[in-house]
Amino acid sequence: MKTVLLNDQLEIPAIGLGTWKSAPGEVGQAVIEAIRSGYRHIDCAAIYGNEKEIGEALKTVFDQGDVTREELWITSKLWNNAHQKDRVLPALQTTLKDLQLEYLDLYLVHWPVAFKPEVTGAEKAEDYLRPEECPVEETWSAMEEAVAQGLTKSIGVSNFSVKKLNHLLKHSTIKPSMNQVELHPYLSQNDLLEFCAQHHIAITAYSPLGSGDRPKNMKKENEPALLQNETINTIARAHKCTPAQVLIAWHLHRNCVAIPKSTNNTRIEQNAASEHISLTEDDMKAIGDLNIPYRYVDGSFFELEGNGYTNIFDE
Ligand code: A2P
Repeated sequence: MKTVLLNDQLEIPAIGLGTWKSAPGEVGQAVIEAIRSGYRHIDCAAIYGNEKEIGEALKTVFDQGDVTREELWITSKLWNNAHQKDRVLPALQTTLKDLQLEYLDLYLVHWPVAFKPEVTGAEKAEDYLRPEECPVEETWSAMEEAVAQGLTKSIGVSNFSVKKLNHLLKHSTIKPSMNQVELHPYLSQNDLLEFCAQHHIAITAYSPLGSGDRPKNMKKENEPALLQNETINTIARAHKCTPAQVLIAWHLHRNCVAIPKSTNNTRIEQNAASEHISLTEDDMKAIGDLNIPYRYVDGSFFELEGNGYTNIFDE
């Protein structure tokens, strides 16, 4: 499996199994199937609510000798209600317990937004800690402590803009190794990619296939359907592969990591096989021209009057 080299010299497998939206009762089997078909990277998060089932699946593959812990790359993410410095390590410990692991390979700050400890899904301004009440440098110093204690090998962020990364770079001892962001041809994020390349921060693409299975309340009317895009489909026919494979191959050609979510065995295998698809310069140009830009996960649900968070992506 192709890998991407991080600034701490670790190598992350370029295709990982996404587990956001993977239903309880399905996600464990998907993880087992993925590992048995060659995946070595599983992308998790506490807020997905399925880490316990993933932990059982990991125990199964370890017990049955399919793979060793050292051969796997496991990422998880710190939820917004555990950004205060005393809460970061306990949140990570809970994730480790749920996943039945001794350490993570990568732990990410999920969003640049802090909730009060007792809040899981913030609905009103009072549910938030204002940025000045819980600055990112406070969270980050605890993330650095997690590395010192051997609870995670690498640390990074998710949903961070160039502006927010710049701030973090100035206030960190360990530089973030990764920024996981929404990324696909309708949102090609060229400026962010360029900045991250300059500063040796790798990029993981979430929603790499356009995230068509998001809950209804996260969807806008008349959203563009990425997998149906004519250019993508034409290129797929030319390479005798599927549109999803073209999309994943596009990410890999840009030296990004991609975490397509699937709970379907055939599609799990199909997605992994994308690494063998070689796109031409013309293909890359045609796909690059599809940038709208369009966000499927626009982050506006965190922007409430008076909570201190506006313009999450600094656009
Ligand atoms: P399923 O889980 O039934 O396979 P994203 O990774 O952008 O969030 O997209 C996830 C969505 O894409 C899910 O609806 C998933 O469905 C679907 N999907 C995953 N792999 C493929 C594929 N190879 N072809 C078509 N749809 C796919």
